[in-house]
Amino acid sequence: MQKLIEGLPKVELHIHIEGSLEPEMMFALAERNGIELRFPSVEAVRQAYAFRDLQSFLDIYYEGAAVLREAQDFYDLTWAYLQKASAQRVRHTEIFFDPQTHTDRGIDFDTVITGIHDALEDGRRRLNISSHLILCFLRHLSAEAAMATLEQALAHKEKIIGVGLDSSELDHPPITFKSVFERARSEGLMTVAHAGEEGPPEYIRQALDSLQVARIDHGVRCIEDATLVERLVRNQVPLTVCPISNVKLRIFETMQAHNLKRLLDLGIRITINSDDPAYFGGYITENFLQAQRALMLDVGDIYRLSKNAILASFLGHSDKEKLLQELDTYIL
Ligand code: HPA
Ligand code: ZN
Repeated sequence: MQKLIEGLPKVELHIHIEGSLEPEMMFALAERNGIELRFPSVEAVRQAYAFRDLQSFLDIYYEGAAVLREAQDFYDLTWAYLQKASAQRVRHTEIFFDPQTHTDRGIDFDTVITGIHDALEDGRRRLNISSHLILCFLRHLSAEAAMATLEQALAHKEKIIGVGLDSSELDHPPITFKSVFERARSEGLMTVAHAGEEGPPEYIRQALDSLQVARIDHGVRCIEDATLVERLVRNQVPLTVCPISNVKLRIFETMQAHNLKRLLDLGIRITINSDDPAYFGGYITENFLQAQRALMLDVGDIYRLSKNAILASFLGHSDKEKLLQELDTYIL
């Protein structure tokens, strides 16, 4: 099973590029940019990665992102992720980035997107990884701030496939961002949103009804609402589940307690992803492996999860067909 998962051709749909910043690179970039970190060593940084909940993670995640200043920094960050993803047989990836985390500390939007975009282009050429970029709005900030960010992004519209919503979920309902998402859709952008990670099932409904999202990021709390579960099954709404993240942020006490196998068996389009691999200690392969072991997933489950990710991606029909073919050749 381990061999099967390692060699599996993969599609990743929920990865925050800032969350792939490994402590070693954090130190290297701090040094390069003359920034003082409050940690004495790489080991001390790793030790600080013990989280109580989403907010305790976000605090340290935004702190870490402060070492990113130049386009080259964003390039190096993205390139390091792509190399890792390539080694784990990721064939296509849809990457989130949080521009407000950077523009709010004086970094130009253009600097951020140029660095990430150039690395994605090199990933296509040199690693044969296709990719899309998704801009996430920080929901702890205002709808006006999100709209201003969208306006900046429209000058780079060809570089992004869609928009999403992340950061602190509790007390920040999706409906706040209705007009921002309407504007994004009117510009031809796809939409996704984090919902039902810490927040209630109602936030998943709002993301579907008010933001008209094509996928829900996390969404695991849907299980508390049978009518919602039925709707997710009927409409085959994909959930981008991140098992290790959910355990690290105490959404579930243990991997054995995770509900992804139940949701999969109920017929929801579940996918497996890494979220913030440097902070949670696992890239996509480790997420598959830990979920497989704890929940006793069989080959059929692994196949369904992989097929779901291909179908849930923002690839066009013929690219999906090619990946489905590659998956079938590998598994069947
Ligand atoms: N939830 C919300 N915001 C985030 C996450 C997450 O899991 N990761 C990075 N930003
Ligand atoms: Zn996330």
